[in-house]
Amino acid sequence: MLKSSRTRTNDSLQSTEYQKTKSSQLVTFPTDRSYTTIWVIFCRQLAPNRLCATQGICCAGSHLRTERDMSRHVCVIGAGAAGLTSIKSCLEEGLQPTCFERSEDIGGLWRFKDAPEPGSASIYRSLVVNTSKEMMCFSDFPMPADYPNYMMHSQILQYLRLYAQQFDLLRHITFQTSVQSVRQRPDFRYSGQWEVVTENSKGEKETHIFDGILVCSGHFTVPFLPLAQFPGHEAFPGRCLHSWEYKDAEAFRGKRVMVVGIGNSGADIAVEISRNADKSPES
Ligand SMILES: Cc1cc2nc3c(=O)[nH]c(=O)nc-3n(C[C@H](O)[C@H](O)[C@H](O)COP(=O)(O)OP(=O)(O)OC[C@H]3O[C@@H](n4cnc5c(N)ncnc54)[C@H](O)[C@@H]3O)c2cc1C
Ligand SMILES: NC(=O)c1ccc[n+]([C@@H]2O[C@H](COP(=O)([O-])OP(=O)(O)OC[C@H]3O[C@@H](n4cnc5c(N)ncnc54)[C@H](OP(=O)(O)O)[C@@H]3O)[C@@H](O)[C@H]2O)c1
Repeated sequence: MLKSSRTRTNDSLQSTEYQKTKSSQLVTFPTDRSYTTIWVIFCRQLAPNRLCATQGICCAGSHLRTERDMSRHVCVIGAGAAGLTSIKSCLEEGLQPTCFERSEDIGGLWRFKDAPEPGSASIYRSLVVNTSKEMMCFSDFPMPADYPNYMMHSQILQYLRLYAQQFDLLRHITFQTSVQSVRQRPDFRYSGQWEVVTENSKGEKETHIFDGILVCSGHFTVPFLPLAQFPGHEAFPGRCLHSWEYKDAEAFRGKRVMVVGIGNSGADIAVEISRNADKSPES
């Protein structure tokens, strides 16, 4: 049985202190000229096409930038589509972004992996996007003209690589470094600053101070498989899995399969599996 239900929006960070901060929280920064406001924007729910409208940080009165504005350091968590465009927006606003990416590369869920990785979103081998290239591209960076209207996942990754190259974003990213916690500093009321603890691939922890945080750590990262809601499932001899685990139809060849849920995952997977599944009538 394939379970294609909602994937719970969650990630490793949610179990840490940063839960205490609310989505789209307005943080006030004291400056030498007046109070400048800055949005800490949680990009976790945004698809790239929507990022165009909400790119990164909104800094009130940015046309009157002061030296203090220019020295503001912003932590961007994650180098998927949301993180990349956030780095770019920081640079455009004269802020200094540092992006921490826990994996070794950019692209987030668009970098296909043969097996799902705990805490990360997952896509299947045949995934074709469901938003057109005009809708999905960043507003100032069209997709290559030779792309089809609806692209393979690998083309989105390539597009993100072109984007990072065009705007020289890679030099702001520290790879293989995971953000462990984000806390307000004790003097936050006056400084508006955050304390960020990171851990690299060697297990080394480091504490950093930032003036702003952009959480771009992704969503659809934790599968929700409520088997308890299906009384009797214990007696079912076959396999029950979530679409998060699904990579291709091979394991379902000649099998009778039930797909629960008809969202995008459910529809795609049902079509793909149906090609080789057992189609004999139920006895
Ligand atoms: C199956 C599937 C299909 C989709 N299809 C489409 C589509 O066709 N069109 C569309 O517009 N949207 C689609 N989406 C939505 C998709 O989630 C968004 O388009 C977008 O790619 C999400 O980007 P993101 O940067 O927010 O997250 P992600 O791409 O998940 O990137 C998050 C990054 O943050 C890193 N990270 C996480 N936690 C930490 C940490 N603590 N420290 C450091 N780094 C961290 C991860 O390693 C990752 O690189 C789809 C989603 C799924 C699951
Ligand atoms: N090709 C693509 O680009 C592609 C492919 C896959 C996913 N995605 C994206 O990924 C995100 C998640 O999509 P998704 O399809 O995985 O999840 P989803 O959109 O949340 O769809 C889950 C479906 O399962 C149904 N459902 C849940 N529990 C059920 C139950 N017990 N019995 C019967 N039905 C049940 C839900 O119905 P209710 O809503 O009524 O609860 C819903 O229709 C979306 O943004 C989607 O666009 C894109």
